[in-house]
Amino acid sequence: MEALKGVRILDMTHVQAGPTCSQLLAWMGADVIKFEPPNGDATRGQLRDVPNADSLYFTMLNCNKRSITVNMKNPDGKAVFVELLKKCDIIMENFGPGVLDRFGFTWEKIHEVNPRIVMGSIKGFGSSGPYAEFKAYENVAQAMGGAMSTTGVPEGPPFVTGAQIGDTGTGLHLAIGLLAALRQRDQTGQGQYVEVAMMDGVMNLCRVKWRDHQRLTRQELSEYSRPTAGLHATPRAGNDSGGGQLGNAIKCKPGGPDDYIYVVVQEAVWDGLAKRIGPDVGSPDLATDARFAKIGDRRKNQTDMWKLIEKFAANYTKREFMAILNPLDVPCGPIMSTADLADDVHVRGRDMYVELDHPQRGKWYNVGMPIKLSASPAKIVRSPTLGEHTDEVLKEVLGWNDGQIAAKKQAGAFSLPPKTK
Ligand SMILES: CC(C)(COP(=O)(O)OP(=O)(O)OC[C@H]1O[C@@H](n2cnc3c(N)ncnc32)[C@H](O)[C@@H]1OP(=O)(O)O)[C@@H](O)C(=O)NCCC(=O)NCCS
Repeated sequence: MEALKGVRILDMTHVQAGPTCSQLLAWMGADVIKFEPPNGDATRGQLRDVPNADSLYFTMLNCNKRSITVNMKNPDGKAVFVELLKKCDIIMENFGPGVLDRFGFTWEKIHEVNPRIVMGSIKGFGSSGPYAEFKAYENVAQAMGGAMSTTGVPEGPPFVTGAQIGDTGTGLHLAIGLLAALRQRDQTGQGQYVEVAMMDGVMNLCRVKWRDHQRLTRQELSEYSRPTAGLHATPRAGNDSGGGQLGNAIKCKPGGPDDYIYVVVQEAVWDGLAKRIGPDVGSPDLATDARFAKIGDRRKNQTDMWKLIEKFAANYTKREFMAILNPLDVPCGPIMSTADLADDVHVRGRDMYVELDHPQRGKWYNVGMPIKLSASPAKIVRSPTLGEHTDEVLKEVLGWNDGQIAAKKQAGAFSLPPKTK
């Protein structure tokens, strides 16, 4: 049995932040009904790689869902929404501020229609405070949550990170909130409103940068490779480790853009590492060199230490260097490109890059389910085409017959009104 079997979700989310959450819940067995406007989630057509096919942007975030199109600007469409609300355990949305209110469905109204339903909302900045009215996308959240100001090199501009911490990170936060609220609902019979602001989620993911922000009031940040005296805000730290142990990205052979390996020089491994690399870089006594004797010494002289390690690494590829470091118990990881990962046996073996089929686009791949439940592993099913399950959902969930469906179709509940000239 799937972990969330029997949980039905009315999923009004779009783009990335919401769909990534509902896809995870679907992979855990929830029945996710993707409730789309008649022209569909905008991402279906964004960054298309195959003409007239749902884009990878859409297919990769909407697996294991059923799609129904409903026009919320039509009274009969709203009536369908109300009927579905009564049959669902969770409703979730990540519209711009005020969209649901403009449809006439505040949280209070939704709670009145179905007191058991849990509502999940993602907003850029939440529903309160001076930023509440603003829309947001991934990089806006990274900018405002403290990620960009702390990413990059000190002398360069702020950078966004490749990981979608603003969108997918927020989706993960919402999933946790929804499951907690569902557990409470099961005990009390009452649903509640779960809100996650993207800015808050990014701040949470930047937690250790706030550690450093407060340390700066008392001391320099000795683990940073650049001086931090006199700073009042956590600086960008390049590839410094950000933790108690020293770390850095080390360039390897043959010197291509991804020919690097991240190496953490843990206190416990320095002796073995120094004995292995020292003789090859003209420092046979590296293990007893006073400049690097203790972690405090290595922090002070880390630039010299990284130069020695990089000199050694110049003779090896990132994989070869990894094979040298692993037996020494040195925590390390080659910088994996998407091409490296797509072909990686470990990745394939853990079902983290999964081949799927799609009626419009043929074979494609999705990143797999990162949460592994031993008794109910995820089975990944392709994303739905637009409105693929409209009739099915109306029949199965609402118990409607063909006549009732035809009447609502006639009334425009599932389509856009014809364009007037
Ligand atoms: C992502 C975002 C910036 C996109 O902005 P947008 O494209 O202007 O979309 P909005 O959510 O503001 O509005 C959606 C529109 O679709 C309409 N719509 C949505 N579902 C509909 C339906 N079933 N039937 C009819 N209309 C529908 C809404 O009425 C709204 O139109 P309106 O402005 O005329 O009321 C915005 O949704 C947002 O800030 N969301 C919260 C933060 C977030 O999740 N961002 C990350 C996205 S990855």
